[in-house]
Amino acid sequence: VKLAVFASGTGSNFVTIAKEVAAGNLDCEISLLVCDKQDAKVLEKAKTFGVSTFVFNPKDYTGKAEFEQEILVKLQEFEIDWLILAGYMRLIGQTLLAAYPSRIVNIHPSLLPAFPGKDAIGQALAYGVKITGVTVHFVDEGMDTGQIIDQEQIRINDGEDRESLQRRIQEIEHRLFPEVIRNLCVKQYVR
Ligand code: GRF
Repeated sequence: VKLAVFASGTGSNFVTIAKEVAAGNLDCEISLLVCDKQDAKVLEKAKTFGVSTFVFNPKDYTGKAEFEQEILVKLQEFEIDWLILAGYMRLIGQTLLAAYPSRIVNIHPSLLPAFPGKDAIGQALAYGVKITGVTVHFVDEGMDTGQIIDQEQIRINDGEDRESLQRRIQEIEHRLFPEVIRNLCVKQYVR
C-alpha cells in the first residue's frame, strides 16, 4: 500500500507515520510528500526519511484544477493508493476527489463538527468548551465535513494554555492517525 502525505507545516504527523513504517508497525510505504510551501519544515523531515517530495507554489498556476492535475500525474507515477492529509491547509478539489473517491483522509484537531477550519485549538479555547479532541475523517469538497472515521476526546484542564492543549492533542494525533491508517488503509485495503 502506497501513501502520499500532503502537508504544509511542521510535519510531526508525517514523522510519526514515517517512524511507524520504519519500525515495521505499519505495512505500507510513504511514497511521496506533497507540499505547497517551499520553506515548510516537513520538507527537511521528508529528506531525513528519504521520502520523495513534490513541492509546488499555487501562485504559479491559474487555479486549483491546474495544480491538482499536476499533483495527480505525480500520484499516478508513484502508484499512490491513499492520500493522507496532515496539515495541508487547502481544500481538495474535484480533480483529486474524482481520482481518489473514499481514498483521502484528513486529521483535524477538534471533535468535528465542532470547530472546523483554521486554528481549531484556538477556537475551542476561545469558546470555553471543556471537552475537545481529534477527528480523522474522509475528505469531501467541504471544509472538514467528510464522513467521520474515528475520534478521540480530551478534557481541557482549568486554565490550560494553548501550548499545553496543543501538546496533548498532538499526542492523541500521533496515536490515532497511524491506527486509522493501519486499520483502514492497510488491513482493509483491496487494490
Ligand atoms: C495537526 O494538528 C492536524 O490535526 C492539522 O494540522 C496539524 C499538522 O501538524 N490538520 P503537523 O504538521 O503534523 O505537526
